[in-house]
Amino acid sequence: MRQDLRSFVEEYGKRYPGELVRVTEPVDLRFDLQAIALELERRRRFPILLFENVVGHDIPVICNVMASRRAFAAALGVEEAQMHSEYSRRLTEYIKPVVVQDPPFRHTIMKGDRVDLSRLPIPTYFPGDGGPYITAGMIVAKHPDTGGETEGYHRCQVKGRDRIGISLHSRRRMFEYQRLAEARGRNLEAAIVLGLHPLIGMGSLAYPPPEISKFQVVGGLFREPLQIAPCETIDLMVPAWGEIVIEGEILAGVREKEGPFGEFTGYFSRRSTEHVLMVRAICMRERPWYQSINSGRAPDHILPLGVLREVEIRNAVSRVIPNVKAVHVPTSGCAAFTAFVSIKQTRPGEAKHAIPIVFGVDHYLKLVVIVDDDVDVFDESEVLWALATRVQADRDLVVISGSLGAILDPSATEQGLTAKIGIDAARPFGQSFPEKLLMSPEKLVWAREVVDRIGG
Ligand SMILES: Cc1cc2nc3c(=O)[nH]c(=O)nc-3n(C[C@H](O)[C@H](O)[C@H](O)COP(=O)(O)O)c2cc1C
Repeated sequence: MRQDLRSFVEEYGKRYPGELVRVTEPVDLRFDLQAIALELERRRRFPILLFENVVGHDIPVICNVMASRRAFAAALGVEEAQMHSEYSRRLTEYIKPVVVQDPPFRHTIMKGDRVDLSRLPIPTYFPGDGGPYITAGMIVAKHPDTGGETEGYHRCQVKGRDRIGISLHSRRRMFEYQRLAEARGRNLEAAIVLGLHPLIGMGSLAYPPPEISKFQVVGGLFREPLQIAPCETIDLMVPAWGEIVIEGEILAGVREKEGPFGEFTGYFSRRSTEHVLMVRAICMRERPWYQSINSGRAPDHILPLGVLREVEIRNAVSRVIPNVKAVHVPTSGCAAFTAFVSIKQTRPGEAKHAIPIVFGVDHYLKLVVIVDDDVDVFDESEVLWALATRVQADRDLVVISGSLGAILDPSATEQGLTAKIGIDAARPFGQSFPEKLLMSPEKLVWAREVVDRIGG
């Protein structure tokens, strides 16, 4: 399988004409890309956008690559209806990466005095942002002791030709690897890779066991080893088919103001771990594409983690509760804080038991609602109906105080301490409960035909 972004985009455009839009109109890097994505979103349109005419640059910018569930399904090579089950299954089929030599990103290498981030078309997204941000940067680093690789997206504020402010606020592997390196007085070598096949992003967000590297997860998604290649100036392997690779190190013992940035919460955020990355080299393919991810609550930004949470929750809950019907991590909860899970109850207490399992999957989750399998979790009004008619607060709530949460959640403390609430909105198991209103399916088909005829 081709592991580069271009092949994916080309095939996607062929399969879904109209879902790849080439923009030849001149666009400015200050706000134009985000404004266009916002207008398309208002029209419920989420095509991949290739901006070919960026003022002041000859490198095109691609964005919205992971802005729809359809794109996730296409990356996995399945129909949208199979996306969840395929993603969850492949997430745990780890395959080790393979090293290839002469990756395309070695075509142009800028080192030392030649390093200059302003040569890249790095956008500023919202008027309130602290400056230009690299948003689709896949940061790769190694565990200081075991050498196992991790990769994840982390916002990068450009502060000078070779200086970047970086926020590791999700406080997962990268945060821990940097903490370990710093405790030994060492900088953490890191690479920022831009322009990747969506499966590399989808694997980077996963929660594998500690001994499994994220590259192994990506291999499982590809169903073949991820091809990786050595960097030029640091001792690190990165995905071989990246368009642009920025090599550097996260400095030990240095913290510097970073932000504000229009975050996934829908707010400008000043909260940051305030790390600093010094750039040693910029490497790129011949005529590279620069990948951008729109910021704020744009689906490009929040959908990847929302869908990942859905499949990780499904996998975790299914280990204990056999009949999980569906999981939805809605964008109304920033695709991060809220989860709706429907189950078919077979034993008393299952709905309550599912709540802490869901919280255990991801520390950002803070509102979990468990419903019966007759409720469509993708229809938020149905979930609210279940809350209204099946919940008794003194019986069905689970509250956990002072738990690990998201630093960027403005209602949490500066350190990200948060309370969590779980709601058992399932009918009491084994007790009589009124029947949900249902119309016979045949009558509904008949009614559809009649309404079509009478022009309703
Ligand atoms: C588009 C996007 C942007 C993200 N931005 C950040 C960020 O700025 N800082 C951060 O710590 N996590 C961010 N995340 C979440 C991390 O990328 C994610 O939790 C990742 O798995 C962490 O990798 P790690 O385990 O190597 O730390 C972002 C995720 C996405 C999808």
